Amino acid sequence: MALGKTESRHGMWSSRWLFVLAAAGSAVGLGNIWKFPYIAGENGGGAFVIIYLVCVAIVGIPIMMAETLLGREGRNSPINTMRMLTQQSRSSGFWVVIGWMGVLAGFLILSYYGVIAGWALFYIFEMATGTFDAVTPDIANQTFNNFLANPWLMLLCQTLFMGLTVYIVGKGVIKGLETAIRWFMPLLFVLLIVLLVYGMNSGGFQQGLDFMFRMNWESIDADAWLIAMGQAFFTLSLGMGAIMAYGAYVPGDTSITSTIATIAILDTVVAVASGLAIFPVVFANGLEPGQGPGLMFVTVPLAFGQLPLGALFGTVFFVLVSFAAITSAISLTEPALAYLVEEYNAKRARVAKSLGVLCWLLGIGTVLSFNVLADFKVFDRTIFEFVDHISQNIMLPLGGLLIAVFCAYVLPKAVVKSQLGIENSALWWLWKLLIAVVAPLGVLVVFIVTVFPCAQTLSCFGA
Ligand code: PFF
Repeated sequence: MALGKTESRHGMWSSRWLFVLAAAGSAVGLGNIWKFPYIAGENGGGAFVIIYLVCVAIVGIPIMMAETLLGREGRNSPINTMRMLTQQSRSSGFWVVIGWMGVLAGFLILSYYGVIAGWALFYIFEMATGTFDAVTPDIANQTFNNFLANPWLMLLCQTLFMGLTVYIVGKGVIKGLETAIRWFMPLLFVLLIVLLVYGMNSGGFQQGLDFMFRMNWESIDADAWLIAMGQAFFTLSLGMGAIMAYGAYVPGDTSITSTIATIAILDTVVAVASGLAIFPVVFANGLEPGQGPGLMFVTVPLAFGQLPLGALFGTVFFVLVSFAAITSAISLTEPALAYLVEEYNAKRARVAKSLGVLCWLLGIGTVLSFNVLADFKVFDRTIFEFVDHISQNIMLPLGGLLIAVFCAYVLPKAVVKSQLGIENSALWWLWKLLIAVVAPLGVLVVFIVTVFPCAQTLSCFGA
């Protein structure tokens, strides 16, 4: 069996640690800092954190390993990697759909991700200029609602964010991605520690801890499992080829198993630390922790605005969120970008611009769904909710399922063995069990329940 190439034409990460930082940069984003704390609090706190960890461990990590090994074996964009691997294993060309679906999912996610990240950029400015200094909850709410009601301002922020993303991506793997990641990721960890210390001293730390870690098992139902699994996919950037694309640039001697475990742990630590940084500040001010988008864009600025040095730390917080979002956005473009560069021999910077413009145009739908087109519904959802649902709840799990099945049942065992380099037979069988049975079954259940919500209540079957 001929094994894959040793280098990617797009460049290579200069070390194992750069891959860790890049993949962690993709994983850590709005999903960790904004969504995880809120849904953990809403779904039983500590009990939810535990089932989320189970999902990351038994579904997330195996699929992340599978994506990385496929990428490193193919050394191309996900579409061409899958093409090459299907030829190599003499299997059906159907599997290339993994690559195509990933490109499409990346587009859809980035179209709204850019808009929400634009909000964070706007809030850097708002915090720094003292808009939230000692404001009342009503004013904080109104500031957020006024912002949502202003499509031009939102468009400006989205444009700024997409412009930054395109600029970095256009510079290439070494010059653009590595430089950005080398600076952003360590800074992000430092800022998070600063905020944690700030939260610890805010007076609400015990309450924040209770909120995040109380073992409220009664609130764990099918829905909570569903949310935990969906969150594991989104937060680890799985099912759409982002990690496969990054895997193509991983040096051949890097251990995939330990590297992926490190990345998943980093991602989880950031999510939990974000909660521990946010909630104490919220409780110190007697504010409401469970308000979804409002948690980050209303409650947090309000809370910071009421604390000493709040404007400074609030600004730092939104800088952190923007950094995290940029390193995720970069990875969302990589599958499509690498494919177009390979297929048309096009210049990276040019392709980045065209992709950016397309995503920006698509994102206008999301911008308008918060104001002018708020009443326009597609299958009962606003444009934003629809795009979010299709990409996160349908395309990512489906992509993950196909990746697990391809890796477990189609790709020759020799390729998987040589890529993973697992010598210990117990470990090998654990990997086989997870990738061939546990992960696909887990995803299948989530997928069916998400796509056919009536299956939860058996109402589909007349029960
Ligand atoms: N993992 C990112 C987050 O948690 O915000 C979102 C994301 C990035 C999803 C890249 C998918 C992806 F390919």
